[in-house]
Amino acid sequence: MALRLGDIAPDFTTDTTEGTITFHTWKEGSWGVLFSHPKDFTPVCTTELGYTAKLSSEFAARGVKVIGLSVDPIDRHAEWAKDIEETQGTAVNFPMIGDPDRVVADLYDMIHPNANDTMTVRSVFVIDPANKVRLTLTYPASTGRNFDEILRVIDSLQLTDGYRVATPVNWTKGDDVIIVPALSNEEAKELFPGGWDEQKPYLRVTKSPV
Ligand code: BEZ
Repeated sequence: MALRLGDIAPDFTTDTTEGTITFHTWKEGSWGVLFSHPKDFTPVCTTELGYTAKLSSEFAARGVKVIGLSVDPIDRHAEWAKDIEETQGTAVNFPMIGDPDRVVADLYDMIHPNANDTMTVRSVFVIDPANKVRLTLTYPASTGRNFDEILRVIDSLQLTDGYRVATPVNWTKGDDVIIVPALSNEEAKELFPGGWDEQKPYLRVTKSPV
């Protein structure tokens, strides 16, 4: 069955371009982004991996470790990494899982046979420090993902884990937030002494607490 939000991300031990990794041990205490790309030496994947490498300081600032996967072997990944560096101007600075036997791809349901029975779809899993799945995304092979959006969701998850707020449409870090409906006005006065704009009793907008 496909992984659902709140499930524990399955652990695995696998070969990567940075050596053998046991997933839970590798990410221990950190957030993680595990993402699949359909195939090495393909154009859209080349741009995605280059861009993700360029975001390394953004991921690090949020305490996030990134790991990629395709069903190609690691020696192919290593060859392809040279092309990524040459064309995208950044070396790949995160491990890439070589999964020719599809062990991890099957564990995370990354092959959708009615779309393609040999390549992974473009899956993304955001996994929290307790190893819970907090976001899943599935994109088709022909559409490159927006990795800025993945950072945006991580910002929202990290904020809403710490405060009794939710983030509205198209929110980005620093924008106003919404006080969770479960919080009474009495409780909200304690937590949000600066007050809020009550557009409806269930729609209370306030400054971001951080
Ligand atoms: C690509 O990354 O460009 C790609 C990979 C598989 C199918 C289609 C496009």
